[in-house]
Amino acid sequence: MEYTYESFKESADYILGRIDFKPEIALILGSSLGTLSEEIKNPVIIDYKDIPNFLRTTVDSHAGKLIIGELGGKKVVCMSGRFHYYEGYEFEQLVTPIRVFHLLGVETVILTNAAGAVNTSYKTGEIMIIEDHIKLTGASPVRGPNIDEFGPRFFDMSNTYTKEYRDLTKKIAGDLGIKINEGVYFYCTGPQFESPAEIRAIRALGGDAVGMSTVTEAITAAHCGMNVLGLSLMTNMAAGVLDQPVTTEEVDETAEKAADEFKILLREIIKNM
Ligand code: HPA
Repeated sequence: MEYTYESFKESADYILGRIDFKPEIALILGSSLGTLSEEIKNPVIIDYKDIPNFLRTTVDSHAGKLIIGELGGKKVVCMSGRFHYYEGYEFEQLVTPIRVFHLLGVETVILTNAAGAVNTSYKTGEIMIIEDHIKLTGASPVRGPNIDEFGPRFFDMSNTYTKEYRDLTKKIAGDLGIKINEGVYFYCTGPQFESPAEIRAIRALGGDAVGMSTVTEAITAAHCGMNVLGLSLMTNMAAGVLDQPVTTEEVDETAEKAADEFKILLREIIKNM
């Protein structure tokens, strides 16, 4: 389909018709980190398939729902089920959730993900605040006719990850005694994990962590002037760092183990935003 301002507006109007308040914060939670959505109070749950022009999940077992309600005293909209390029979507389709959230009135998006640690001083289970990102592969999500209502054709990416929220996260992590890193997230399309040679190249280019999500959403948010907080959980050391393969089992296992600490941190951040 062709995406226009009206098509995004139609999605947003449908959602607004199902709720009687406007969410301020959007949460897009990475693999195995999504259970925070269970804590949302008085949730209105909307299936993606009921929202006009919204994307459909490619895996039937994936939730594919928006959960809208209250968390940490804030009105939030949370995606249960995220969209990635490796699933077969075009980059241009991946703007949909963020643009629809913008039209709901959301001003801040929190993006979390599982990532491989490229920086060898990081340890598995640690969290990294995304300071900046590198995306050298594929098209831009905002390629194509520019929709001026969202933002200008050419736009700045110098302050994509809002400094105020990075500083807030550092302070809260310090208060909670949670070790926190800050670094550069390097985007790879996947679904294959990277080769050890790619990881060496990524390190030489300035990447501290590597993953397959978040950046398309952050670019879309920057285009329409939203605040972004990005947090990566180091679920594994990136390929070639250790003498062992990178496996989904390790990624899921680490995410599960770290989920509680991650949730405590996120809840406190949302409360203080
Ligand atoms: N590479 C890419 N994506 C990932 C990784 C990784 O090592 N770990 C979790 N997501």
